[in-house]
Amino acid sequence: MKKVGILTSGGDAPGMNAALRAVVRAGLANGLEMFVIYDGYKGLIEGNIKQVDRTFVSDIINRGGTIIRSARLPEFADVEVRKAGIEQLKKFGIEALVCIGGDGTYQGAKALSDMGINCIGLPGTIDNDIASTDYTIGFDTALNTITNAVGMLRDTSSSHQRCSVVEVMGRYCGDLALYGGIASGSDIIVTSDHPLVRDEIIEKIIKMRKEGKQHIIVIITEKLCDVHELARDIERRTNIECRAEILGRIQRGGSPTARDRVLAGRMGVRAIELLLEGKGGRCVGLRGSDLVDYDINEALKMPKRNNEQLIKVARTIS
Ligand code: F6P
Repeated sequence: MKKVGILTSGGDAPGMNAALRAVVRAGLANGLEMFVIYDGYKGLIEGNIKQVDRTFVSDIINRGGTIIRSARLPEFADVEVRKAGIEQLKKFGIEALVCIGGDGTYQGAKALSDMGINCIGLPGTIDNDIASTDYTIGFDTALNTITNAVGMLRDTSSSHQRCSVVEVMGRYCGDLALYGGIASGSDIIVTSDHPLVRDEIIEKIIKMRKEGKQHIIVIITEKLCDVHELARDIERRTNIECRAEILGRIQRGGSPTARDRVLAGRMGVRAIELLLEGKGGRCVGLRGSDLVDYDINEALKMPKRNNEQLIKVARTIS
């Protein structure tokens, strides 16, 4: 194996650039020729591929987003579409890929590996919804963004003695709300693993106001309910002014934290090591403080464990 490609796919995440930098530099350091593929699997089938040197990844470790851009391509599940991608790789002589993204990216990487192109998946998503790793690249940065945003909301909520309902991302994973709720000192945390029924939320808010609480922050994972409707309902039933805020894609932007950069660096280097060992169809994860790697099919089947310990912390101190 002499030529390796790299792509970023799915929702972008801070730290993807740091991972790209690590993969390119680790590959070059091992005598490989490195290629970037723009726009994820879409760019792969279109042949939007370019050979890069060390300087291509200079000055990007601190940058959010992904300089090689990202896209979602559900059609990549179709074998004929993948064959078009493989044809492009053959044109450039690329024999292996590093694919950075979430579970959709992993599925594509596994399917390509089964078709003879060794691929390594790296977990790049703010959602932290990949069961084969404790932390994904981008999660820590998004968590800090949420913590800062809730801190700012707390100021204005206190001034107006309001309740704020804050919706955070995560797709179907509650980690951003759970960790973000604990880190920001939110009063009520609602996730799919830590659900609260409407009546309980209302009851808690009334109790907190009676105890003299100026601001009340409810943090909730996206897709669980219409947060504007929830805010109206809280206001109607508690007589406390309530506003809903959807943090949205702001959570996906910004300069990656040191933790995300280091994780990206470690995982990028490991991806190249695995390819040099002739491995493919695998993904890199973090367990405790150690890097691990799994077969992608096994990884995709792993259930995401509820963080019971953190849920207990949230119940105790929120
Ligand atoms: O997977 C990352 C993520 O930001 C999710 O949290 C969110 O549900 C989704 O992507 C939004 O995707 P898009 O920006 O394509 O609408």
